[in-house]
Amino acid sequence: MVPSPTMDTRVLAIDAASPSPAILREAADVLAAGGLVAFPTETVYGLGADARSDAAVAKIYAAKGRPSRNPLIVHVPDAQAAQALAAEWPEAAQQLADAFWPGPLTLVVKRKLGGVSDAAAAGGPTVALRVPKHPVALALLRASGLPLAAPSANTSGSLSPVRAAHVLEDLEGKVNLILDAGIVEGGIESTVIDVSAAQPVLLRPGLLDAGRIEQIIGPLLQPTDASDTGPLPSPGMLERHYAPRTKLLLSSNPSVILGVSSEGVAVLALDADLPPGRAHVVRMPLDPVAYAARLYDTLHDLDAKGFHLLVAQEPPPTSLWLAVRDRLRRAAA
Ligand code: TXA
Ligand code: MG
Repeated sequence: MVPSPTMDTRVLAIDAASPSPAILREAADVLAAGGLVAFPTETVYGLGADARSDAAVAKIYAAKGRPSRNPLIVHVPDAQAAQALAAEWPEAAQQLADAFWPGPLTLVVKRKLGGVSDAAAAGGPTVALRVPKHPVALALLRASGLPLAAPSANTSGSLSPVRAAHVLEDLEGKVNLILDAGIVEGGIESTVIDVSAAQPVLLRPGLLDAGRIEQIIGPLLQPTDASDTGPLPSPGMLERHYAPRTKLLLSSNPSVILGVSSEGVAVLALDADLPPGRAHVVRMPLDPVAYAARLYDTLHDLDAKGFHLLVAQEPPPTSLWLAVRDRLRRAAA
């Protein structure tokens, strides 16, 4: 086996609210030279590279072990910069950009040739664009003057990072620089909407509640799981994803599982009256936004503690829980 090349990974602490211009300049220099910089967004940490450069973007795929047919989200500082990378900018894109950017929303639009690199779009006719809200992400976009391709900064298929330490543990030696601004606020990824065709499609539920999007542009098509027999709507969505190393079961009634065995088991519980037995019980927030903010951090923490089984109590089947339920289902796949 050929050993993969490694590099020194530097970690620099940066203030989340007012990032140091000197540190931003260092990060921008790494990006301009075609290197990789992990940075915080309001959702999860991203693994950034110059989206215009095939060579720089190739390093993202290599570091993550990500299939090159799975396109990346390109981050830009404002809607005007997004529009400049699009071949068409539909009314729905403008309405959603006005309402939710900067913020945890990604829009898939037709790609302008000569905009982002083929690698960032995985050779496809569309590009996924997002204006992040985190002050460090926005300041880095402005300091570098580059559109930044940035998937979540984790090995393909595993848990997304919500702290710099998660990035370091997973990708040390594969990323030049990590900007450490502490734990991020959102905790799960952006909502991805395809507005490239006549009927908008929800490709990935995420931090921005889909109901708020429907209030503005009307009903969204939702690709069902049956779509793995048809054409790929969003390549990333068919793989086991967002998964801890420890086996995870999703259960509407964890007591049944705990009745069989609770030794070495950790439970992400919603009910206050779960009989724990000898299981380690983590009480999760009853509000979906607060739950999302805790989810990956809790799973990272439990992974490190060496339980042999994690059991997550299924949240209610309401639309506000859509994104959390999606991540739990994938983590358990
Ligand atoms: O919150 C987020 O979105 C984070 C932060 C870092 O911004 N990024 C992120 O990127 O989650 P990633 O690469 O892990 O997820 C991108 C998702 C995948 O499901 C991918 O298949 C989909 O967006 N996607 C990207 N480009 C697409 C395109 N042109 N058409 C359809 N789906 C696309
Ligand atoms: Mg990801």
